Amino acid sequence: MSTPLTTTAPLTKREQAERAMRHSWFPVARSVDLATPEPAVLLGEQLVVFRDADGNARVTARRCPHRGADLSLGNVTGGSIGCPYHGWRFDGADGGCTYVPSLPDQSKIPPKAAIRSYPAVERFGHVWTVLEEPVVELYDPEEWHGHDLVWLAADPLNSPTGVAAAIENFRDVAHFPFVHQVSMGPTPEVVEPLQVRRDGIDVRMERPLDAGDGDWANQGDCMMAYHCTAPGFASISYHYEQAGLRVVAGFPSPVSYEQVKVFWGVANDRDFKGDSLEECLRVEEMVYLEDMPVVENLSPREVPWDAEVPEFSVPADLFTLNYRRAFAELMNRTARHVEAAGGVAP
Ligand code: FES
Ligand code: CO
Repeated sequence: MSTPLTTTAPLTKREQAERAMRHSWFPVARSVDLATPEPAVLLGEQLVVFRDADGNARVTARRCPHRGADLSLGNVTGGSIGCPYHGWRFDGADGGCTYVPSLPDQSKIPPKAAIRSYPAVERFGHVWTVLEEPVVELYDPEEWHGHDLVWLAADPLNSPTGVAAAIENFRDVAHFPFVHQVSMGPTPEVVEPLQVRRDGIDVRMERPLDAGDGDWANQGDCMMAYHCTAPGFASISYHYEQAGLRVVAGFPSPVSYEQVKVFWGVANDRDFKGDSLEECLRVEEMVYLEDMPVVENLSPREVPWDAEVPEFSVPADLFTLNYRRAFAELMNRTARHVEAAGGVAP
């Protein structure tokens, strides 16, 4: 008698990163775009995002289980989304089929004819969702507590790069004099030692805004708080002594492992006493468009978690190196979470 030997190959770091992201919150639409249902893709899952008649944001699977029509072409009635093909309706909260127009007797709706529904939370001008049971809560940076922030969500940008590579671009401090000469003007090449703190999946750094940061962000004395949380949250909070709090934040969302839709936006105190949010967005967009040609051509397209490609780091990379540690910590937390749930499934 022999027992069949079953071996499960350990997940590669890349597989662990993908799994961690399936258990993490990402934006899938801007709040302002929900006048009609919006298609979205998150880690390969085809989704539809819509606002029901009561104003609740909803996220469900996009494929109609009757004959496969695209529900983002349908319309919303009450709490449900209707299929554009034969009019079946699905509840936005639980995904159950609530109405089949062709059926004389609605009690005969096939009980399994449902679509998957996902959590939906509106925050920072965007609708966020998570594919599997979340390992960590949706981002809620403490430096924004007590502030009544008004958000302006930017046009999202598509980039053939991974989430971590996109976040690293947001938080990189050594590329300004090479990529942003036009938008920022001349900035110093030498990066003074960075004071970076990591706490679990959060990485932070503070520094005063100075002349080296150019005029683009200058609205008087200001302390800048860099904050990033694994996997996909990066912000700079500008604490202006006179004007108040201004925020620039990016939330790259993985369409697939090597393709992101970068949702991002700007915000400030409701009574902010500096330039307008529209002007801030215009300047930030100019900055970001300078990054795009470089970021779109990185090789590999995502951080090489499995060290399959050698990279060399210097002290100026301290923030992004700490972000990688934060992401690794998230992978470990996800592994423990999945184990505790008694499965190896994603
Ligand atoms: Fe959706 Fe028929 S394909 S109702
Ligand atoms: Co840049």
